Amino acid sequence: MENNSIGKKFVITCFGESHGKCIGIIVDGCPAGLPLSEQDIQKELNKRLPPKLEIVSARREKDLVEFLSGTFNGFTTGAPICTLVSNKEVISSEYDLIKDTPRPSHADYPAQIKYGGFNDYRGGGRFSGRITVAFIMAGAVAKKLLGLFGVEVLAYTIEIGKVKLHTTPTLEEIRRNTYKTAVRSPSLEGEKEMEEAILKAKKEGDSIGGIVECIAHNVPVGVGEPLFDSLDADIAKMLFNVPAVKGVEFGIGFKAARLKGSENNDPYAIRDGKIVTLTNNAGGILGGLSSGMPILVRVAIKPTPSISKKQKTVDLSKMEETVIQVKGRHDPCIVPKAVPVIESAVAIVLADHMLRAGVIPKVLRRQK
Ligand SMILES: Cc1cc2nc3c(=O)[nH]c(=O)nc-3n(C[C@H](O)[C@H](O)[C@H](O)COP(=O)(O)O)c2cc1C
Repeated sequence: MENNSIGKKFVITCFGESHGKCIGIIVDGCPAGLPLSEQDIQKELNKRLPPKLEIVSARREKDLVEFLSGTFNGFTTGAPICTLVSNKEVISSEYDLIKDTPRPSHADYPAQIKYGGFNDYRGGGRFSGRITVAFIMAGAVAKKLLGLFGVEVLAYTIEIGKVKLHTTPTLEEIRRNTYKTAVRSPSLEGEKEMEEAILKAKKEGDSIGGIVECIAHNVPVGVGEPLFDSLDADIAKMLFNVPAVKGVEFGIGFKAARLKGSENNDPYAIRDGKIVTLTNNAGGILGGLSSGMPILVRVAIKPTPSISKKQKTVDLSKMEETVIQVKGRHDPCIVPKAVPVIESAVAIVLADHMLRAGVIPKVLRRQK
């Protein structure tokens, strides 16, 4: 397989399979002088497992990060950073079934055809949600880097199944509540209803999807490279590389198509000596460049394809139609685990573009 890297200045390469030895990343291009420890990465990895474990898959590895290279005396050296986690809790026999009877809406069928049957199908292989452990490790580095320049990236659940947040969360609520709640939602009221929706789907042998919103504050004006690396295009590309992502919209997104210019345009104003817009329908990006307003992106996540209800499929070895009942330990809803992944994906692209724009220098000089 090729194309396992993304980015131009902050380049991440991701390796490993769901049931292989490990999942890992190499980050090339991170400036020298960034304070970075195993703990910085571990803290982000721990966000994958919500406090109420019954709402996620029964595969509950304590993913412990191993730091292989790229730091010295607690600071990045400018050399490639390589980190990995081992896959320990693996039951591959559960996947024998899907070798010839592909799971509907998973990647099993196209992957088997593309790689001539040589792909590692166990646990979904390279197509597993577990691959996103790599996104989180690279995202941890990106977030630490962005933090030095005042940029904060926060993702949170706004919809699960048919349950929506009734109010727009404040920044304080997002910071305080998101990782306290099992569903990764900033609203403590909405949490219970969302959890119940997941548990109901699980009981029925089914799954549900949802929507994650992500906001990035303090990105300076003018970050992005229009034609052909516009900031929104690159963020969308990264987000569509997260398995199960089916839609991405910025600002008011598809709603803009139904408005008049006078309703959609974000008027300029000056507040505290700074140029701002009075609304942010654009979601902080104009012409592929950051506008200085918060970058706001929403991501639609489909229901988990592996469900224990019986489904129609085909037996590829016999060219016969058949029925499959998927085994294994699957997430009844991907959304809670996807929240830190979306946060990381957006941070990775912002780190890359801020390096490209020269806003982040190649070497971070020691503070005196
Ligand atoms: C964090 C995360 C966890 C996931 N867990 C599962 C799972 O337990 N079972 C499953 O069938 N798919 C799971 N997926 C989704 C599949 O990997 C994905 O649907 C599949 O690769 C097909 O890709 P597509 O949905 O983008 O077309 C997960 C995805 C993510 C991001």
